[in-house]
Amino acid sequence: MSKLYIGTNTKMYKNIAQTASFLEALGRQTADLSRESMELFVIPSYTALDRVSVTARAAGIRLGAQNMGWEDEGQFTGEISPIMLAEVGVTIAEIGHSERRHVLGETDEMENRKVHAALRHGMTALLCVGETKAQRTHGIADEVLRTQLKEGLFGVDAARAEQLWIAYEPVWAIGVGGEPASAAYAEARHAAIRQALFELFGAAGAKIPVLYGGSVNPENAAALAAQPDIGGLFIGRSAWDAERFAAIIRQVLPIFADKAEGRRRS
Ligand code: PGA
Repeated sequence: MSKLYIGTNTKMYKNIAQTASFLEALGRQTADLSRESMELFVIPSYTALDRVSVTARAAGIRLGAQNMGWEDEGQFTGEISPIMLAEVGVTIAEIGHSERRHVLGETDEMENRKVHAALRHGMTALLCVGETKAQRTHGIADEVLRTQLKEGLFGVDAARAEQLWIAYEPVWAIGVGGEPASAAYAEARHAAIRQALFELFGAAGAKIPVLYGGSVNPENAAALAAQPDIGGLFIGRSAWDAERFAAIIRQVLPIFADKAEGRRRS
């Protein structure tokens, strides 16, 4: 796992024109950075996907969807199907973001159906997990993460593990008013996630990238990136300006290169 996985979800913020100019700027700002050493992705609003698909591909930026229905078609008013998303160039389905779970009431069982739908359609399933503040206080963060992983990934064959990415995003760390996790706290949770992935998939589980998200900013990105079990960063607010995002990428890329080198040597 030597690559840096880094991306942003723009939530319900950028319209089509804003997304297009953001992607163009991000493409320019990162044009000199090899995509061999990084997976760069952007997850914009649905309405922007079709318009920015060509720009994103040309810039070496993978496109994701913020949510996805689990059926190919049918009587599901308000849902969007994997087929519709694939048609506009989406290769990553973000599943179970904290706002989907805690504001919109999604359950682990729903996330599991979405994971299977993404895999069936050849997409990367980016499953987000994270404990609430109360769960952290009660000392059950790792239990919550294990449950979300084991329920969310139930029935996934180890042969499909290469289509999985995990984002650890503690609910209390996300968004305006969020308090960033310390690097040590995040690393401890990432280690628990690694263990659960090993139990699920054996050796294939060790290769699944696990990204940290929740109030990542230019001040804490390097310390988080340096942790052995953190495989990338999933950033909200601090990535919505292309220049600011590119500066974070430049800051953490060499840290990942060093980690990869260290692993090769050991
Ligand atoms: P934030 O968002 O970086 O603005 O806290 C993270 C996320 O919701 O993925």
